[in-house]
Amino acid sequence: MRRTLPLAPSRVARRVELPPRPEGFAEDAPPRLTDAAGRAYTYLRLSLTDRCNFACVYCMPSGGEHDHALRPELLSFEEVVRLVRVFAAGGVRRVRFTGGEPLVRKDVVRLVEMIRASTPIEELAMTTNAARLAELARPLRAAGLDVVNVSVDSLDPARFGEITRGGDLGAVLAGVHAALEAGLRVKLNVVALGGVNEDEVGALVDWAWGLGLVPRFIELMPIGEAAHLPSARFLSAAQVQARLGARLAGGAGVADERAGPARYVAAADGSGREVGFITAVSEDFCATCNRVRVTAMGDVRACLADRKAVSLRDLVREGASDADLSWAIHWALATKDAGHRFTDRGASEHTNVGMSLIGG
Ligand code: GTP
Ligand code: 5AD
Ligand code: SF4
Repeated sequence: MRRTLPLAPSRVARRVELPPRPEGFAEDAPPRLTDAAGRAYTYLRLSLTDRCNFACVYCMPSGGEHDHALRPELLSFEEVVRLVRVFAAGGVRRVRFTGGEPLVRKDVVRLVEMIRASTPIEELAMTTNAARLAELARPLRAAGLDVVNVSVDSLDPARFGEITRGGDLGAVLAGVHAALEAGLRVKLNVVALGGVNEDEVGALVDWAWGLGLVPRFIELMPIGEAAHLPSARFLSAAQVQARLGARLAGGAGVADERAGPARYVAAADGSGREVGFITAVSEDFCATCNRVRVTAMGDVRACLADRKAVSLRDLVREGASDADLSWAIHWALATKDAGHRFTDRGASEHTNVGMSLIGG
């Protein structure tokens, strides 16, 4: 029997038909999560909300996304925990909560506690704009959060306010300090924007290093809002690296195999400090992808750049077994493309893929 999954109210999803689970699939031990290219999935990025208290120019339309999920459409905490357990059974060891902004999800600290109490996840991370981190860092750490990646695109309050459309740099910096004081590991993300913050890349590195942190420069991906920005906004990692000049030892840098897509270049002075580069466009890292995504509404997405979605939430609410969920995830990954093709398909393919709707 084949059936069509109901259409979730998301402007970005392209529903696909899930074939029936093969008999016996995952009924004893679920197989490892792999795809046709042999890539193994150990890192789950799970979005907790499609809302955000900022509206960064490359991420959200002015005024924010208009068709937010309603509360009942979001995965409940119990559903998140159930799904994380199913992913863990397939080999996922590391979970990152994303958004929108994960810290605007009510009671997020309780969810962190629940993940720690009821799943075997080895590392729990979060990507946040840090606007609420000053108050939440300590309870999050106490609940079992290990790492936060914080986005800081400028150290100039006015410029920061423009990029984030109203974000308060002071609150974000207070959040970074609170995270460090609470004992969270912190990484800094900077989306390098030509003609906007390119004159600040050196200052951002010096500031991050001064705090003992690793700054990471992200190439602007032509997704959603960013696809409509002038091409002059795009800065390659090589251009940023050239601007950092004598600070860095040079070379292509090394990837942290266990973790995400960044490669890290050492400081020239042998101090062991590093700068990360996420070359999503100029040199994609799709061949070594270890990441699978779940949106706030519970769609599994095999790739950030793909609108193809299977609703795990609907399966859960229809009474699916763990083996059914495991099959849906396996099938979504089995049909995954080799790569995102940002460059050869052109930007237009990706304009409907909202970063804040998928979780980056
Ligand atoms: P670590 O695990 O700490 O290295 O973090 P991360 O880089 O995986 O996560 P983070 O949320 O900080 O993401 C940084 C940037 O990398 C964001 O712009 C993400 O959208 C981007 N990114 C993460 N995974 C992928 C991916 O699989 N493909 C693409 N194109 N971009 C990705
Ligand atoms: N290209 C690159 N990075 C992006 N981010 C959001 N939109 C884009 C884009 N179009 C970044 C945020 C945050 C991370 C989750 O993704 O700045 O650091
Ligand atoms: Fe919010 Fe992050 Fe998108 Fe900025 S990039 S609007 S902080 S979700």
